[in-house]
Amino acid sequence: MMAIVPEIPSKPVLDIQVTTGEDVPEIFTRETGNGSLADDPSALPWTDCPVIDFSLLSASSAGDELRKLHSALVSWGCFQLINHGINDSLLDKVGEVSKGFFLLPSDERNKYSRTPNDPQGYGNDTILSQNVPHNWNDRLYLHVYPQDQRKLNLWPLTPPDFRGILHEYTMSVKGVNETIVKAMGRCLGLEDNSILDEYGEKTVMAARINFYPECPLPKLVRAARAHSDASAITILLQDKQVEGLQILKDDKWFKVPILPSALFVNVGDQIEIMSNGIFKGAVHRVVANSQRERLSIAMFCSPDSEKEIGPIKKLVNQSQPALYKSFKRYEEIFFRYHPKGERPILTMKI
Ligand code: OGA
Ligand code: NI
Repeated sequence: MMAIVPEIPSKPVLDIQVTTGEDVPEIFTRETGNGSLADDPSALPWTDCPVIDFSLLSASSAGDELRKLHSALVSWGCFQLINHGINDSLLDKVGEVSKGFFLLPSDERNKYSRTPNDPQGYGNDTILSQNVPHNWNDRLYLHVYPQDQRKLNLWPLTPPDFRGILHEYTMSVKGVNETIVKAMGRCLGLEDNSILDEYGEKTVMAARINFYPECPLPKLVRAARAHSDASAITILLQDKQVEGLQILKDDKWFKVPILPSALFVNVGDQIEIMSNGIFKGAVHRVVANSQRERLSIAMFCSPDSEKEIGPIKKLVNQSQPALYKSFKRYEEIFFRYHPKGERPILTMKI
């Protein structure tokens, strides 16, 4: 029988009264072995991961852009995406309604609180081990596509246009995801639809809207500890002004710059697995900031959860045997291991 591990609870970060570092609860400051927290993050180098022009990806003459994309996916597992066709005003609006939600009074925000057995809703992430520190992060996590899987009771009614704007943003990101995933198929030397066909009936999308309040102990607390995403790919809208995201390459951390109007795309565990390890899932983290709050919106795009996912058959042969098992419902696997500080993708390795 599996032991039921009780959740180590925390109030939303926004509901903790902090004026000095001494007010930061101990559950946020435990050391994890996720790299020394004492390093000065501002001293790190910037990533030079490629900038991909979305408008060139579907052209028949996309050769150069595909080569750039291929190199981004095998070396960094991420890239900046420009000319994606989602206009600045929608990017601004989805940022504004999101911030509007986090700035609501506590009672109003907590109407949408997550419950212990469901990651969806408002609050912080579930932690299931004494050794894992909580992140200095409140998030609103919502399944946004297919539409009939939305739990609308967890979708804020204030700001009044929150639901409409998140819907509009979801549908725009869905189109971007499809084009990127087709281009990824071509980068693997496969047909356009090779990865998308593996998605099954429909793409599944979840939004994780992150708010990172100012933190008086940025050297001892992480805004988000190192992880790779459960998604196939993640399409991230960063804060327009406040940096904080870092990615790991060859055991070194790099800061991710803010590029105006760009989206930041990273490979998640499921494309790492489907590509049989050819594309790297990017390990990333967010550092805390003592001066400024930060908002970001991650859209996790994944295959249909009922579809069996594994290394794509055409990529597996005698000289390149399958490196990962096949599975369904990876999100559930992710939420079983990540809260204990374990890397979910390692449990999928053969
Ligand atoms: C995430 C994530 C990065 C950021 O939500 O999974 O990694 O910049 N967010 O907030
Ligand atoms: Ni992430």
